[in-house]
Amino acid sequence: EKGGYDWFMLKEIDEQPQAVAETLLGRYGRSGRLQLDEMRLSDDELRDVDKIIIIACGTASYAGLVAKYAIEHWTRIPCEVELASEFRYRDPIIDRSTLVVAISQSGETMDTLMAIRYARQQRARVLSICNTNGSTIPRESDAVIYTHAGPEVAVASTKGFLSQIVACYLLGLYLAQVRGVKYGDEIDAIMAALEKLPAGIQRMLDEGEQVRKLAAELVDTRSVLFLGRHVGYPVALEGALKLKELAYLHAEGFAAGELKHGPIALIEDGIPVFVVVPPKARDQLQEKIVSNIQEIRARGALTIVLAEDGDDDVVPYADHLIRLPKVPTLLQPLVATVPLQIFACELAGLLGHDVDQPRNLAKSVTVE
Ligand code: F6R
Repeated sequence: EKGGYDWFMLKEIDEQPQAVAETLLGRYGRSGRLQLDEMRLSDDELRDVDKIIIIACGTASYAGLVAKYAIEHWTRIPCEVELASEFRYRDPIIDRSTLVVAISQSGETMDTLMAIRYARQQRARVLSICNTNGSTIPRESDAVIYTHAGPEVAVASTKGFLSQIVACYLLGLYLAQVRGVKYGDEIDAIMAALEKLPAGIQRMLDEGEQVRKLAAELVDTRSVLFLGRHVGYPVALEGALKLKELAYLHAEGFAAGELKHGPIALIEDGIPVFVVVPPKARDQLQEKIVSNIQEIRARGALTIVLAEDGDDDVVPYADHLIRLPKVPTLLQPLVATVPLQIFACELAGLLGHDVDQPRNLAKSVTVE
């Protein structure tokens, strides 16, 4: 039931603090060690892993792109992310020491299912990250980490996405723990920051009115761009996807560093551009993106800047400034995505679209 909300999507956006908290629940013991109950792969098997390939579709693939940064950083295991629909058709190099990680909210996405079947035929180990107990993908996997986001009814994934990122992080930290790599030290700090995250997400929800007003101002817009770097890049992709599927608008996400290699030609007077600014602590990335914001604004873009509290460098170049709580860089996607979801949902509603069931789309895509 919608519980007083106009749309399931709004309800599910609001449930995100809880979805993240539930996904973390019981996984970090007082002993300072991570426990993943459904991790049916032994420590020896996990120590053998020399390559990780994340496969998924759509929003789940963007969760994978975010996770790649964290998993490689913590585990030093090379990690690729591939669309499930492409994976099987390129003769991928996989063997017994490859860990294939399938991310799927529904657990029924046909492309993802076919990809894991293929991976298992090639003798890879398959771990799935899934929100639906007993669905096909976890049943056909060697191991599973369930996200505990609760049922997601709206076609557009929201709490599914955030909880997928959290589950991927648990996997990355678990691998780091089992393998005893250098970044194992970071486990405590990151777990502490993750535990505080639901409050940060709640704040983004509480401040949602700013974004809803912005959607009302931009109701006639034809095209919206999103820029990010590092883990902000998949956030840009996700912001654009939400807008395409819900508001039926042309929207694109770019890596900000790619601007001058082409996309900057799209900048014209008044075009709204969302920019996700990395935390200042991140070497040079913040400065670089600030100059990207200057470049596009000088060419007439309407800049909508998402930047952490206290980052004042962006103030002179932001037509709209959305503040984010200070969190470690790797966790920023979990707060920065929220206003983009609210924006897309609000704009779609204002345009009179069916937010929960956008045209031409289905919740689980059970055909290839
Ligand atoms: C976008 C969206 C889709 C799904 C994709 C994968 O909002 O919901 O892009 O993320 O179809 O679905 P699952 O995660 O069920 O495999």
